Amino acid sequence: MASKASKKNRLPRLYADACKVKGREFWDYEKMKVKWGNLDDYEVVKKIGRGKYSEVFAGFHIPTDKKVVIKILKPVKKKKVKREIKICQAVSKGPNIVALLDVVRDPLTRTPCLVYEFVNSQDWKTLYPTFAPYDIKFYMYKVLQALDYSHSQGLMHRDIKPHNIMIDHEKREVRVIDWGLAEFYLPLQDYNVRVASRHYKGPELLVDDTLYDYSLDIWGFGCMLAGMTFRKDTFFAGADNVDQLYKIAKVLGTDLLTQYLDSYDLELELEIEQRLGKMPRKPWETFKTKENEERCSPEALDLIDKCLRYDPAARVLAKEAMAHAFFEEVRKKEGI
Ligand SMILES: Nc1ncnc2c1ncn2[C@@H]1O[C@H](COP(=O)(O)OP(=O)(O)O)[C@@H](O)[C@H]1O
Ligand SMILES: [Mg+2]
Repeated sequence: MASKASKKNRLPRLYADACKVKGREFWDYEKMKVKWGNLDDYEVVKKIGRGKYSEVFAGFHIPTDKKVVIKILKPVKKKKVKREIKICQAVSKGPNIVALLDVVRDPLTRTPCLVYEFVNSQDWKTLYPTFAPYDIKFYMYKVLQALDYSHSQGLMHRDIKPHNIMIDHEKREVRVIDWGLAEFYLPLQDYNVRVASRHYKGPELLVDDTLYDYSLDIWGFGCMLAGMTFRKDTFFAGADNVDQLYKIAKVLGTDLLTQYLDSYDLELELEIEQRLGKMPRKPWETFKTKENEERCSPEALDLIDKCLRYDPAARVLAKEAMAHAFFEEVRKKEGI
């Protein structure tokens, strides 16, 4: 863990005070009173997904006949349910973020259910390989709009991965879903490193660096962009958390890892240090193949490089990434 002295240079470059400015009522979610809607208004039709924390069904809002998604939460602490509701409400109107329509409770079991707009998305493993280079730029730009918005509201998503990005390819719409691990950012607070899914965990989580911030989401975004660009389902496919750091170090090298650890007085467990050994940095061009070269523009590789940095402070911000040359075509065509 970082010492007090090295905490000074650990503030995010943007939106560090977003929660503070909104006041305690915004971020002190435990005090929130939930207004529960009526479960009888909804009809469950079929199961469409299952996560670690929920079972998800497609259904209808009976009074309006509108198609919805009903996320039935598995038994978790009340506090976690409140956090997800409060954060979903806070970002619900943001760009490319799933709209929370209602929160209801089963009167008998008191099981909380979150009702969302339905997104007609396809499985990412079959969808991503069909993308033209422009589709990647277009959809990833939309993800960045959602991330920049959530960061501007003082919120880190903490579980950015393809499973949590719904894409309706017919309508060309993106929705960032699953705010179940999201958290309010307060300056220099220690956060739990047991967040995100293994393959998308930032190095900070793997080296127990608890002073992380919004830039964690940029790592997840970078893993997705690298996966899409190089046509790999998973770019860093670790078998466990130590192996995950090993897979990252095999690409970024161990020198830069040491540099990151040293600059914040962080230390690796001896066992992990020995497992990693010494590895050189691998240039991004070496991932280029005949099958993916169409996607490997210098701009794409440069953006990947700016997202996938060990040091969270060295990563590009969502807002800066949106201005990157990789998205020039998107900004032009969409008149941004
Ligand atoms: N609004 C939605 N539209 C379409 N599918 C959804 C929607 N919300 C969730 N799903 C599906 O349900 C799965 C689990 O939902 P998610 O909110 O990620 O729950 P968990 O917190 O359990 O991971 C998603 O990966 C997705 O396949
Ligand atoms: Mg999920």
